Amino acid sequence: MEVRRIGETFFAEVDDVDVSKGFDAAEWQAFYDAYLEHQVLVLHGQTLSAARFHALGERFGPVEPHTVSMYHHDEFKGITVLSNRTEMGRPKGIRDAGSSWHSDYSYKPVPANATMLYALEIPDAGGDTIFADLAAAYSALSDEKKASLEGLRVRQQYRWSRDKTHVEARWNLLNETEREKTPEVVHPLVRTHPETGRKGLFISNAVSTGIKDILDLAPDASQSLIDELFAHTDDPRFQVRHKWQVGDLVIWDNRTLMHKATTDVLPPDKFRTLYRINTTGTAPY
Ligand code: SIN
Repeated sequence: MEVRRIGETFFAEVDDVDVSKGFDAAEWQAFYDAYLEHQVLVLHGQTLSAARFHALGERFGPVEPHTVSMYHHDEFKGITVLSNRTEMGRPKGIRDAGSSWHSDYSYKPVPANATMLYALEIPDAGGDTIFADLAAAYSALSDEKKASLEGLRVRQQYRWSRDKTHVEARWNLLNETEREKTPEVVHPLVRTHPETGRKGLFISNAVSTGIKDILDLAPDASQSLIDELFAHTDDPRFQVRHKWQVGDLVIWDNRTLMHKATTDVLPPDKFRTLYRINTTGTAPY
């Protein structure tokens, strides 16, 4: 296995691994260590069945089906189909799974640890995914700022938005059961990675993240800190952009990263279809 770091602080390409063949114990350890070290791993040219992809997911933790059930894979509910294709007039998958910054399932009491995407169909241009290193963003803060964030907690709820008319807000997108399954949660603003000990900011601006406020701060102070941290984390020096090829398998660690698609601006005649898996992590601290 050859691992090449692409980004300054994270993101690596891995060669000489055929995931369809599986891993022996030593290979798996090396692969998992690379995942912890680089936070995003890209493997080109993979040929994976849905069953093999699902089995890989289970090595990272329990595979957790997406909150919105209508785009689950027919056979493997833990696989979500992302696609802008329609079949007999019905969407084949989620057209845009998140073109604003988010960390998967951060709106749940126990967010995702790993996410993996497998590319089945990729347009000749567009539909890239951008990743940002929230541990690097935290490290870049002054010691004084870090101390001021210590112990702060963020209140959030899936697809909560100040704008009640937003088409992606919970009132407009979720059915009653899905709303019941997504109560408000509170997470630390600075999160410690349970395996590496790295500290990172745990805040992102997507509607799906649904940040309401920072507890124990006055409303103005809370909003201004949220705005400041959104601006700080949205800085190209913490980011790497992935341009997809068919057969790419990308695995990332949500515990110190956020990511966003660019599928909101993908022209309707450019087709993009991927399988996605998320695995359950542990409660943030
Ligand atoms: C996601 O945010 O889960 C999907 C990202 C993508 O489609 O590029």
